[in-house]
Amino acid sequence: MNQPPVLISAERIADRVRELAAEISADYADKGDLVLIGVLKGSFVFLADLARELTIPRTIEFIAVSSYATGSKSSGAVRLIMDVRGNIENRHVLIVEDIVDSGHTLAYLLGILSSHRPASIRTCTLLHKAECAEVEVDIDYVGFPIGDEWVVGYGLDYAERDRTLPYIGIVTPDDRR
Ligand code: PRP
Repeated sequence: MNQPPVLISAERIADRVRELAAEISADYADKGDLVLIGVLKGSFVFLADLARELTIPRTIEFIAVSSYATGSKSSGAVRLIMDVRGNIENRHVLIVEDIVDSGHTLAYLLGILSSHRPASIRTCTLLHKAECAEVEVDIDYVGFPIGDEWVVGYGLDYAERDRTLPYIGIVTPDDRR
């Protein structure tokens, strides 16, 4: 099977992850421990790379959600599958996403994680489909703005395929079968 065409190369991703890590490390330099919360499954590769580039004390948590979809279109309803394991009360939290599309998932996560009363809560996503936003959410750190494309790789899947591709590729109409 053909490999998906490249949208963002592994080299560009690595450069941008290093830049984001430097920015986040500077922003949290005087704040103590930062809790990175990866949103499963898609963020696992980005989170692993970002976390290892940070120069500040950090701990890792995961949260899992699922969105109810009609075909390829998200309905906007999000369900919690697995909550964070550790206590995040009075701690600085950074939600780490692979992609923000409609914004429903991130809006939902901000709601439930805020109820744990963290000291602060910010958001970071590798990819942002700004033109697809259906709800407004504050995103503090964005790797790459992208258009309304179906993308795979670096953690993102299409029907569970291509998550381990080292770059961000575009799903072509031929692949959507
Ligand atoms: C993707 C992505 C975000 C969400 C963004 O997850 O990882 O969590 O969709 O979409 P939204 O902004 O429209 O809410 P997905 O449901 O594909 O699950 P996965 O990460 O397990 O692949």
